[in-house]
Amino acid sequence: MYTQFYGFKEKPFNNSPDPKFFYPSPKHAEALDRLLYAVTERKGFVVITGEIGAGKTTVCRALLNKLDENNDICLITNTHLNAKELIIAILEDMSVPYKSGTKIKLLSQLNDFLLTKMEEKKNVLLIVDEAQNLTPSVLEEIRMLSNLETDTEKLLQIVLMGQPQLKEKLKLRELEQFRQRIAIHYHLYPLTKDETRGYVHHRISIASQNGTLEIFEPESFDILYQFSKGTPRLINYACDNALLTGFVYEKKKITKAMMLEAVNESLLKLRELSDDVKTLCCDQCQDFEHCSTRWHRGEKGEEQICCEKCSKYFSCH
Ligand SMILES: Nc1ncnc2c1ncn2[C@@H]1O[C@H](COP(=O)(O)OP(=O)(O)OP(=O)(O)O)[C@@H](O)[C@H]1O
Ligand SMILES: [Mg+2]
Repeated sequence: MYTQFYGFKEKPFNNSPDPKFFYPSPKHAEALDRLLYAVTERKGFVVITGEIGAGKTTVCRALLNKLDENNDICLITNTHLNAKELIIAILEDMSVPYKSGTKIKLLSQLNDFLLTKMEEKKNVLLIVDEAQNLTPSVLEEIRMLSNLETDTEKLLQIVLMGQPQLKEKLKLRELEQFRQRIAIHYHLYPLTKDETRGYVHHRISIASQNGTLEIFEPESFDILYQFSKGTPRLINYACDNALLTGFVYEKKKITKAMMLEAVNESLLKLRELSDDVKTLCCDQCQDFEHCSTRWHRGEKGEEQICCEKCSKYFSCH
């Protein structure tokens, strides 16, 4: 809707893991480098964990973009599976014609397929995204898959990606053997404030027809960072809303006040999707983490005060 107004080729803040928009922040670049290294050197097990919306799937898409045709990829994203269903999902994703039967029979067919691939000099990579949903027994099954090997080589490279619950799960005593197999574990932390600015500029410059546009006024980043805490998905939400706000006001510069409005819109939208969203405090103190009132726009009552720290309800946005 607003793309023409700002002179974009496409919307800069779509929430999709499009590798074209990949911003190699130091953290994302390191995650990608480690993945590439582990896959090309056939290191075995890699685990990437990170907060919700931190960019795990995006890094995974960037990895797929970099791998050549010598790699055959199996990407599993539905992780509410038992062990047998997981093996079936792998066979189906790799388009292996298989005969159904016991888990052992299925495993043997997978093993045969992997041996053929090895003869063809193909590297088979299993990526399980959303791996936080896997039960310990399915994780154990995945460890067994990593045992499929010849005398000299592993037949399957395995990458698990998941939210922090995966990190917690891997601490379980029963997964000790699994833990010992992990060659690389990288935790993707949110962006810093400077990286957040770099991220926004990067996406704008990819979407722009005529180079980087300084659309966001520097002060607007304070609000953006406070809301998003450097989480890319939240940055996208807020920036998309901010651009829409600018479009509605016919302003090509996003001011601090416009960003605040956009952030509050984002909070309302996110609240509809989840109860577990932090609310933004008022413009004066901007300390919602410690705010006891925690209102967001549309919820203020006449009798309500603003947060204890600033107590300026009447001048609040
Ligand atoms: N490095 C990056 N460069 C560009 N865009 C990114 C980057 N990281 C994340 N994003 C954007 O943020 C959105 C959320 O990222 P992504 O889906 O990869 O997060 P996730 O960690 O997989 O989240 P979840 O825990 O919900 O699976 C993506 O759709 C993408 O638009
Ligand atoms: Mg994801």
